[in-house]
Amino acid sequence: MNILILGSGGREHSLAWAIKQNPKCDRLIVAPGNAGIAEIAACADIDILNGDAVATFAEENAVDFVVIGPEAPLAAGVADRLRAAGLLVFGPSQAAAQLEASKSFTKAICDAANAPTAAYAHFTHAEDARDYIRTQGAPIVVKADGLAAGKGVIVAMTEDAALAAIDDMFDGSFGDAGAEVVVEEFMQGEEASFFVLCNGTTALPIGTAQDHKRVGEGDTGPNTGGMGAYSPAPVMTTEVIAKTMDEIVRPTLRTMVSRGTPFQGVLFVGLMIKEGQPRLVEYNVRFGDPECQCLMMRLGGQVLDLLLACAHDQLDTAQVNWADDHALTVVMAANGYPGSYEKGSQINGLSSLPADSHQMVFHAGTSLIDGAICATGGRVLAATGRGDTLSAAHARAYAQADQVDWPQGFFRRDIGWRALPKP
Ligand code: AMP
Ligand code: GLY
Repeated sequence: MNILILGSGGREHSLAWAIKQNPKCDRLIVAPGNAGIAEIAACADIDILNGDAVATFAEENAVDFVVIGPEAPLAAGVADRLRAAGLLVFGPSQAAAQLEASKSFTKAICDAANAPTAAYAHFTHAEDARDYIRTQGAPIVVKADGLAAGKGVIVAMTEDAALAAIDDMFDGSFGDAGAEVVVEEFMQGEEASFFVLCNGTTALPIGTAQDHKRVGEGDTGPNTGGMGAYSPAPVMTTEVIAKTMDEIVRPTLRTMVSRGTPFQGVLFVGLMIKEGQPRLVEYNVRFGDPECQCLMMRLGGQVLDLLLACAHDQLDTAQVNWADDHALTVVMAANGYPGSYEKGSQINGLSSLPADSHQMVFHAGTSLIDGAICATGGRVLAATGRGDTLSAAHARAYAQADQVDWPQGFFRRDIGWRALPKP
């Protein structure tokens, strides 16, 4: 079959890499793709936020299956437009994508589903939000309601910081995303990410991961899209997974169906776990980046069968063949990220690295410029390793990162610290 993947990040490179290993995959096209993806698939320069353009391209290229990687096309309704054209699609409708695109929507769904999450209040006026913060005190969390590229959440340790966040949001720092805010209880515990393929009320868990959101070692400094991740997450025990499915995922899916907005795709369940009790931090409606790189390394080619089972509503008979393995990915970012950074620096040493089922450097923000691989994003590469233990996966990931010749980039040395054996 001919498959089209939408996106251009490390997530999409790893999806393409895994899907390509499945013999069902004939022609693989990624739009717009990047320099690493171009080594394994055809890249097409189309506007992936334009459903009409994607549908026309898919029809002209005899595409049988479209996998939508990032949230922006989902929130823009691209899946709906493609389904209306009769295409088989992996990814939720615009209405169901509100689980990521609107924090207040998700909070309302949690209320209806009785799913454990932080207590909250929703505001459209700055003064009401300030009053609420003054009565609640700190620590407290302030969130822009809409999509803000991972930057719309302020975990305020003091009341002043929370009040300043309210000023920023209503001053337009977050664009339209900040026109409404959710202020919520600060939750303590350990965070983990849980990935579940869903169609209507059917759900199939496909892996757990933990990521490192802060830019600096020791989990310090500003939040980023994610500086590294590993899978599985030790905190996600069989019991915690069962509780998450029973108390959070299944009630959410039932509520979505009862409201006429069934969810189809991968539900990324962001959790805070304390004393074995999971609570929802947030939903995303797509794979995490860089968590996806770890999941794809572990699942390999079977992932295409799983995505197809999801799209065909056959998850009830689908099965994941688990290996007892671990994967870890280290993000290499441009100096300055998550603040401003330079684009266009050249990256050397990639072609001599081994690339196989145990080690891959996935490209996240690269372009081919005059025959050279150049950094064109904030997060640029994801050096990923797999092994029988987390330590082995860690060693493989860092062995690759260390060989990349790119002085304009940096990476954290301590990815996986919480789960690795103490030295
Ligand atoms: P989000 O963009 O919703 O994933 O939030 C970014 C990060 O902020 C999360 O990964 C958490 O580390 C933190 N966070 C969000 N909400 C809360 C909360 N209610 N309590 C504590 N930390 C939170
Ligand atoms: N790594 C977190 C995310 O993809 O949102």
